[in-house]
Amino acid sequence: MSNRMWGGRFAEGPDAIMEEINASIDYDRKLYRQDIAGSKAHVRMLAAQQIVTAEDAAKIADGLDTILSEIEEGKFTFSRALEDIHMNIEARLAELIGPTAGRLHTGRSRNDQVATDFRLWVRDTLDTLDQQLSELMQALAEKAEIHAADVMPGFTHLQSAQPVTFGHHLLAYVEMFARDRSRVRDARARMNESPLGAAALAGTSFPIDRKATAEALGFDRPTANSLDAVSDRDFVIEALAASSICAVHLSRFAEEIVIWCSAQFGFIKLSDKFSTGSSIMPQKKNPDAAELIRAKTGRIFGSLQGLLVVMKGLPLAYSKDMQEDKEQAFDGLSSISLALAAMTGMVKDLEPNTKVLKKAAGSGYSTATDLADWLVRVLGMPFRDAHHVTGRIVGIAVERNCELHKVPLEAMQEVDATITEEVFSVLSVDKSVRSRVSYGGTAPVNVRKQARRWLKELARG
Ligand code: ARG
Repeated sequence: MSNRMWGGRFAEGPDAIMEEINASIDYDRKLYRQDIAGSKAHVRMLAAQQIVTAEDAAKIADGLDTILSEIEEGKFTFSRALEDIHMNIEARLAELIGPTAGRLHTGRSRNDQVATDFRLWVRDTLDTLDQQLSELMQALAEKAEIHAADVMPGFTHLQSAQPVTFGHHLLAYVEMFARDRSRVRDARARMNESPLGAAALAGTSFPIDRKATAEALGFDRPTANSLDAVSDRDFVIEALAASSICAVHLSRFAEEIVIWCSAQFGFIKLSDKFSTGSSIMPQKKNPDAAELIRAKTGRIFGSLQGLLVVMKGLPLAYSKDMQEDKEQAFDGLSSISLALAAMTGMVKDLEPNTKVLKKAAGSGYSTATDLADWLVRVLGMPFRDAHHVTGRIVGIAVERNCELHKVPLEAMQEVDATITEEVFSVLSVDKSVRSRVSYGGTAPVNVRKQARRWLKELARG
């Protein structure tokens, strides 16, 4: 049997393999709600423009409502032979209301229909990501305020560099997620134009009102060029690009969590809720959630890359290649959403081992820069000389196998005779962080202020 929707010029039905490669219903059924909303807005507009009668429009809208509940109650039978969500719904509409169903597709094509459905879906997803990012930032800022003064080692090259506070470290991620959030919001603002009414590619001769359908569906305006409207997938590429950058941040944090909760570091405790055990090694508590967040990055980057490749070099306007946009986007965007939810749960529950952090903060000669700064500030040495003198004192500490503050004054004075007892006042980690009051620095007063600023801003929405 040839296809009811487009089979007019066909004598034969499709080969089984053709049906398999062509059908998208297995995944685009996800768009049923958006498809029905788009169709209702369209038919209402057709009636308002007197392109269909009010009576037919009401019949169609009622039929669509019935279909919506059928799908939501799991009573709808999806058919591969009907290719996609659009034709599945329209075919069912014909079963329910008869030939009137055929009037719905006036002045519209599946090309603008799918572009509309997908935009609506991506828009909802961006709104969810926006909310999820805000929840993650909130969890981080709350922890940061509590631990504004708890010192930990700050690293470069994963080697102890200078002490920082745990709160400061968490707030670094708040900054990253805030940028991610603003990218999500930008993408949403840019994509919020309605392709509905662009029809196949050239617009339509029917006196449709694209502004009305745009408004009914919550779009800011209709797209200005019909060719662009049906061939553009920037909106989903941009959503995946924003997600990919966010995934970079999530994976860096996930990696730190994996390192921090290892027995060798012991910086944090993860809750049982976000860990798993081993079937053979009874002592194990593994940070699987963090590892999976780190790994989801692969899928998210993959879906961005996949879609970029699908779109690259496609001539205008619509080509069936574009049907391959959905699975990739569904996978990438649901992965980022799950990763954000898991990270938020983990952050809420994790507890720093403040004693371990403090001890680690003092090891590895982490206050060497404080010593050099003291030589500059108190003895008036040029920084480069101070750097050299400090390096020699660190050398003594290495030789004696002791921390910097345990190097005797006499030994320091052998390097520079003018060093006094007062130097020990800057060699503690607490003093070190407290002195870092420059804007954006790790001093607890700064951290507390920043944490409160974020919490206030997040409460505003
Ligand atoms: N299932 C199709 C898609 O997802 C709908 C659009 C079909 N348009 C067409 N000209 N064949 O892209």
